[in-house]
Amino acid sequence: MAEAVAEQAQIEQRRREEQRLERAKRQREKAALGGLWSRRDLLGRVGWMLFGVFSVTTLLAAVRSAFPRILFLPPSSFKAGKPTDYAVGEVSEKWKKDYRVWIVRQPDGFYALWAKCTHLGCTPRWLTAEAKFKCPCHGSGFYRSGINFEGPAPRPLERVKISLADDGQIVIDKATKYLFEKGQWGKPGSFLKA
Ligand code: FES
Repeated sequence: MAEAVAEQAQIEQRRREEQRLERAKRQREKAALGGLWSRRDLLGRVGWMLFGVFSVTTLLAAVRSAFPRILFLPPSSFKAGKPTDYAVGEVSEKWKKDYRVWIVRQPDGFYALWAKCTHLGCTPRWLTAEAKFKCPCHGSGFYRSGINFEGPAPRPLERVKISLADDGQIVIDKATKYLFEKGQWGKPGSFLKA
């Protein structure tokens, strides 16, 4: 009888131990499952964040494309005042900053030079004391006529169209150019008689 009781106690003991082990195993599995879910949550959140960033970037790009970058260039044609505004012998730099043009007043009339070096396109300076245009980039020099005489510039400066408007003002049209090497400096429009 005592043996049977002891055996029963042992079985009971084993059952409790197995139950304890089973509970511990379940808790471990639950913990592992919880970790997996939290990792999934994290990945999900990162995914949504990336999607959000992508959507906002796309939206901004769409809005930006609705306002294209426009380069506002000054018009090619402009009025340059009355002929009497210019002194004989003067090389006027009045329009150089805005229109990149010099107006040269000769005793018999006017011509307009485009202030663009024929070497690589820098803007030369007018040096009154030396009576020449000098390019600061590689040293090309041009007489007041626009003819090149020093430095690497391969040809003279270009002249642009000069004429008189109905209101008596000088009109410069940069869209029309006159090239010395093509014999165009004698053409009407390349020179305005005073
Ligand atoms: S760009 Fe004028 S000399 Fe080179």
